[in-house]
Amino acid sequence: KITHVILTGGVGSRLWPLSRKTLPKQYLELFEGESLFEKTVIRSLDMSNKTIVVGNIENYKMSNVIMSKFEKPFTHIVEAVPRNTAAAIAFAAFASEPEDILLVTPSDHIIEGSELYNNALRKAIELANQDYLVTFGIKPTKPETGYGYIEFEGENVIAFHEKPDSKTANTYLENGNYFWNSGLFCFKAGKFLSELENQEPEVFWASKRAWEANQDGFLDYDLSLEIPSISIDYAVMERSNDIKVVPADFEWSDLGSFESVYDYLVQKDHPIDDNRNIVIGTSMHTTFIGVKNCILIYTSDALMVLQKENSQEVKQVYQQLESIA
Ligand code: GDD
Ligand code: MG
Repeated sequence: KITHVILTGGVGSRLWPLSRKTLPKQYLELFEGESLFEKTVIRSLDMSNKTIVVGNIENYKMSNVIMSKFEKPFTHIVEAVPRNTAAAIAFAAFASEPEDILLVTPSDHIIEGSELYNNALRKAIELANQDYLVTFGIKPTKPETGYGYIEFEGENVIAFHEKPDSKTANTYLENGNYFWNSGLFCFKAGKFLSELENQEPEVFWASKRAWEANQDGFLDYDLSLEIPSISIDYAVMERSNDIKVVPADFEWSDLGSFESVYDYLVQKDHPIDDNRNIVIGTSMHTTFIGVKNCILIYTSDALMVLQKENSQEVKQVYQQLESIA
């Protein structure tokens, strides 16, 4: 049995003002009238017979509206407070049978090429059935520091390195034996939980206590606060010896910053001027003079112009503007 676990926790602060606290990017209907969340569901519809959505109170309704379009058994787990991905995935695993195969995916990535995607999933499921934790590796194109790196030899993983500094990322890129971690995972529910229990017992037991007190999938606030906030990457992937990697030949972008949105749009033939400036969100006539590699973002109540290279700083702007974010 394959269960698709959809993580929908992020606020998408790096894409403000396109995404908002009340409308994170996975719910924006930016892509052919569909949201990334809906595309995520559709993408894995044929490969799984059940869906578990792990989200929060703010996005509970938006997820339900989308899930109700599909006739598929669906469980909603609602976190009282975000405790990062190790706990979020643990809840889904506790809600499953130990032998169930979980395909864990974010809800806000762009993935294209359904045949290549399905092929990668088939390989991953085969390995997950042999009690491995399976990652999906993307061929790196730049020394990105916001990703995990998978040191591989064939399908074996020698080591997993989450978010290296830029010097280390550069050596990984030159070395050639490293993939980016796509953020998708596949494993048996029981295998994930036993690894979590071994590597991070505190997270395991606190998540278990919180899960056991859930009310129709809603988690208790006080018990949740006791769960250490740590990602699956640091908690399990960097430490486990049973990891495999399936090369992901499909097109992938996590749209994690305006830089990756820019790269994605330009590759999709979005208009770009001679100085490589682009406009998002308006068809108004826009002229850039004397500036290069800029992105102008227009929404009904906010306007932002940024240098593509400074995309990571949007998060700080968002934090300062929390009142109107
Ligand atoms: N339900 C829930 N609860 N979801 C969460 C939580 C939480 O507390 N925290 C994060 N998520 C969701 C996010 O919404 C996102 O879809 C996914 O889990 C991953 O979290 P990010 O915060 O986006 O992680 P990251 O981008 O720093 O790093 C991860 O993804 C990279 C690829 O995009 C890592 O897995 C990296 O290794 C990887 O390269
Ligand atoms: Mg991310």
